[in-house]
Formats: sequence, C-alpha cells, structure tokens
Amino acid sequence: MSKKALVTGGCGFIGSNLAIKLVEQGWSVDVVDDLSSGDLDALKNLDIRTVTPELLIQYEESGIIEDKTLVITGDFASPYVLSRIADKRYDYVFHLAALPRVQFSVENPVLTTDQNVMKTVSLMTACIENVDRFIFSSSSSVYGDVSDNFPSRESGNYEPASPYALQKLVVENFCQLFFKLYKLESVCLRYFNVFGPGQPGDSPYSTAVSAWLDKIATNQPLRSDGDGEQTRDIVYIDDVVDANIRAAESPKTMSGNTYNVGTGATYSNNEILGLLKNKFGDLEINHAPERPGDVKHTKANIAKIFEDLGWKPKWDFVSGLNETIKWWGLKENS
Ligand SMILES: NC(=O)c1ccc[n+]([C@@H]2O[C@H](COP(=O)([O-])OP(=O)(O)OC[C@H]3O[C@@H](n4cnc5c(N)ncnc54)[C@H](O)[C@@H]3O)[C@@H](O)[C@H]2O)c1
Repeated sequence: MSKKALVTGGCGFIGSNLAIKLVEQGWSVDVVDDLSSGDLDALKNLDIRTVTPELLIQYEESGIIEDKTLVITGDFASPYVLSRIADKRYDYVFHLAALPRVQFSVENPVLTTDQNVMKTVSLMTACIENVDRFIFSSSSSVYGDVSDNFPSRESGNYEPASPYALQKLVVENFCQLFFKLYKLESVCLRYFNVFGPGQPGDSPYSTAVSAWLDKIATNQPLRSDGDGEQTRDIVYIDDVVDANIRAAESPKTMSGNTYNVGTGATYSNNEILGLLKNKFGDLEINHAPERPGDVKHTKANIAKIFEDLGWKPKWDFVSGLNETIKWWGLKENS
C-alpha cells in the first residue's frame, strides 16, 4: 500500500518540490496551503483537485474517488484539516507552511508566533497517536551569529536573533517534549539556504542566487550588500527533498532529532557574482550598505545527518546553479 502524506505549505518553493517527488515515488499525497505566498502553479506537473477546508466534509461524503492530488486551499490548522489527521488518513505529516521571513517576524512578532508556533502546536497535537511521524522544516537561523559553533553542529551553541528563528527553536523543543509526553515521533530539519528551480526571485526570502537571476532576466542591476564577502552554505532543492524523505523513512526512532541540511561548503556573494559574470558577461552591480542583523557566515557540519540518515548532498553548487539558470530560461554568453 502506498504511504500517505500531508504536505503543509505544499504550494511553496520547497513544499511543492517535495509533494511532486513524493507523488513520483508512488506516495498518496494531500497538500494544504492557504496560498498566502504559495502558488497553485507550483504543482502544475501534478493532476490536482482543489477543495477549501469548509468543503472538505462535503467532498469526503460525495464518495468521489479519484486519482488526483488533493490540494486543500486554506489554513493548515483549520479544524477540517485537523480532523482529517485525527481520522488517521496520513502516515506522515511534512510541515513546511510558515511565515518564513525574518524581517517580517521582527515587525510582527505576535502574528508570526501565532502562525509559526501556536498553529504548529495544534497541528502536532492532532498528529498524536494518529500519524507515524511529523517532519518539521526548521532553519539554520536558530544558530544566529554565535562564534563558538562554526561550522554549526546541532549539539553546539545557538542564539536565535529574530522571532522567526526563536519560533523554529520553540517548535523543535515542542517536538522533543511531545515525544517524551505522547510518543509523537518527529524530526526537525535545519535547512541552510535552499536554492533551485521554482524559487521566486522577488520574495524577501529569496537567496542571492534567485534574486540575481531574476534581475538578470529582467535586465536590472544586481544589488550586493556590504563588502560581498559574507558567505553562505547553500543547499540545492533536490537534496532538501531527499533529506525530508529519508527523515520520514528512517527505521530509527525519531524523538524530535534535529539535523542540519546544508553542504558543509560555502560561497561568498562575490564568488557567486564572479560565476554569473563568467556566464552572462559584465553585470551592473548596485552596492548597498551591509544589512543590519545579517549573519556574516553560515556553514553546516553535516556529520550527524550522514551518520543517522545516510544523507549527504548530491548536488554541488555550480551544477545546481546551472539547473536553476535553465529554469529561468536564461541564455549564457558563449
Ligand atoms: N527556503 C529556505 O532557504 C529555507 C531555509 C530554512 C528554512 N526554511 C523553511 O522551510 C519551509 C518552506 O520554505 P519555502 O522557502 O518553501 O517557503 P514558501 O514561502 O515558498 O512556502 C511556504 C508556504 O506555506 C504557505 N502557508 C503559510 N502559512 C500558511 C498557513 N497558515 N496555512 C497553510 N499554508 C500556509 C504559503 O502560502 C507558502 O506556499 C518554511 O517553514 C521555512 O521556514 C526555508
């Protein structure tokens, strides 16, 4: 029998790629997304049926059986969605839905705590005794700018520097607590900077790669902040999807285990700009001041995820960049 999954935030960048891969692998997948930043177009490769949460009961009672991916267009914490989980319809819940913008969380600590923590705890509560595992999309932002944990290890020091980062950490703590209290199995994946095809270039959460490819596609100058020497551990989307599936399928007991999902390698903004100049010729760069609060360097230690899940990145940065450029439909200078 095929494995059944609910993917929250499945119309977003990472969630849509995950949902598509799961379907390709024969899983039965439902998506829930309120389309606040996601787009149904991200699932255009799938045959989908959209239903609002309020119409779910009618849809279920209609007895329609179809080989389509159900996309629930609403809040992941809606009582209709939670009751589907309570009905044991899913083996796995992949929780990607979030308000994932650091600056927005600084400006809206209450709203983002409600979405990213309170609703997530409701979702997890529905999962107790009803799903095999809850897989949570956490973030490397939990580490903040600590100097004594670099490259960052999961067991090392951390210092969240925004409500968003703290919200991720709090949910990780709930994951560990819910295992102790209720035996809910869960895994927390701390993604570093994720990039690849499908990532919009104009969202506040875009990586430099997508933002710059967007500018190249629209013939606009590229913005570079500070001295450009800030470095990032940038991980390709397919590897992040693979980490999610391994986290779900691992035979190990998962008691809220946290894993870094990065590469262990870094690129500076100047290095990325150099690669783009090699491909597209001279580019107009607008230099902007360093952004306050920006972490200078990120880098993952990925020993733990390799040891426990056998995961390591299959994509190097340059190959991922080439795929992403293709997706943007950009022609390189020959
Ligand atoms: N992209 C990255 O580099 C990165 C890095 C670290 C962590 N993450 C985490 O990974 C997850 C996915 O990130 P992404 O880049 O795909 O973001 P995204 O914004 O593309 O996707 C998030 C999706 O969640 C949906 N959503 C938001 N609130 C919702 C709600 N209440 N109910 C239903 N749907 C809702 C949005 O419409 C969107 O489609 C997030 O939890 C994010 O914090 C991403």
